[in-house]
Amino acid sequence: MLDQLTQVEEEARTTLEAVEDSDALTEWHRRYLGKKGTLTHMLRSVGDLPKEDRPTFGRAANEVKIGLEAAYQAREQALHREELERELEKGALDVTLPGRPARPGHLHISTQTLRQIYAIFAEMGFQVYESPDVETDEMNFGLLNMPPHHPARDMWDTFWIDDEVLLRTHTSPGQIRVMRERHPEPIRIILPGKCYRYEQITARSDHQFYQVEGLAVGRGIAMTDLIGTLTEFARRFYKPDRRIRIRGSYFPFTEPSIEADMDCILCQGEGCRVCKYTGWLEVCGAGMVNPVVLQNGGYDPDEWSGFAFGFGVERPALVKYSIDDIRLFYGNDLRFLRQF
Ligand code: FA5
Repeated sequence: MLDQLTQVEEEARTTLEAVEDSDALTEWHRRYLGKKGTLTHMLRSVGDLPKEDRPTFGRAANEVKIGLEAAYQAREQALHREELERELEKGALDVTLPGRPARPGHLHISTQTLRQIYAIFAEMGFQVYESPDVETDEMNFGLLNMPPHHPARDMWDTFWIDDEVLLRTHTSPGQIRVMRERHPEPIRIILPGKCYRYEQITARSDHQFYQVEGLAVGRGIAMTDLIGTLTEFARRFYKPDRRIRIRGSYFPFTEPSIEADMDCILCQGEGCRVCKYTGWLEVCGAGMVNPVVLQNGGYDPDEWSGFAFGFGVERPALVKYSIDDIRLFYGNDLRFLRQF
């Protein structure tokens, strides 16, 4: 029986050396060490031997088994290495093939529009100032001359986090922040950012949109400076022949207040759903900074004056690119976004 064991071991080692690929290796394992393999069978038949031969044969057969398992593993690793080298020699990876073109994304239309706005105001000497989206009731309303229960608050209803904290409805609270930070220096800034409103969503109004606030505080600043700035902006942002209409309006934080409309490019003044069939699209609220607000910002209204304006970003983009529905901006439809 021991002779037979030696013979099986020799045969197994010889055939293992001749194994050339992983299929043949699996077959080899099945043949000698598998459940029905020769060696497994011999180990199982230890019980059939005379009692005195069993320990010697059992030990020898176990040693052979361990030795063959180790040889099998060494061969497996060697084969794996050989296969890898063969693959590399074959040049399975052809680095000269043209690469798959990467599909680069691009800036969202709102970001592109914002950047155009920054560039125009930068040329007019305005810095960019940013303030938080999450504001207090006091900043969003109180310090802008809208104490609790002021009726104008209804125009700017928003999403409340608790009784005191809210998502800002306009970028105007940034006016207070920048004044308190900069006084007693003169100010000339624009203040871009997202605003949120609890209001009906239509072709021209969304519940979230960007605004750009403008604020200039100095000595002797007048309404003509405001109108000049807005007109210059409109000429640079659209075309020199765009028409602007200035109307008297009311905002608690400006006195006097105005609104600026732009002729509706979509319908050429004929009237459409975006301009509410008036031929004009409201793009901006503005006015001279109310003395109460100047004071809240730390400026003496007897010495200082200023103008402020706030316009949406999506609405001017609607006009500029002839888009007929504001909801497309944040609908995440790539067929729309890829056009800009
Ligand atoms: C304001 O938000 C004032 N804070 C603007 C202001 C600033 C006045 C400084 C005076 C001085 P109003 O609610 O009208 O005003 O909004 C200003 C602009 O934001 C609008 O003209 C419009 O362009 C844009 N806008 C307002 N609501 C929406 C909306 N729901 N969807 C898209 N754009 C909007």
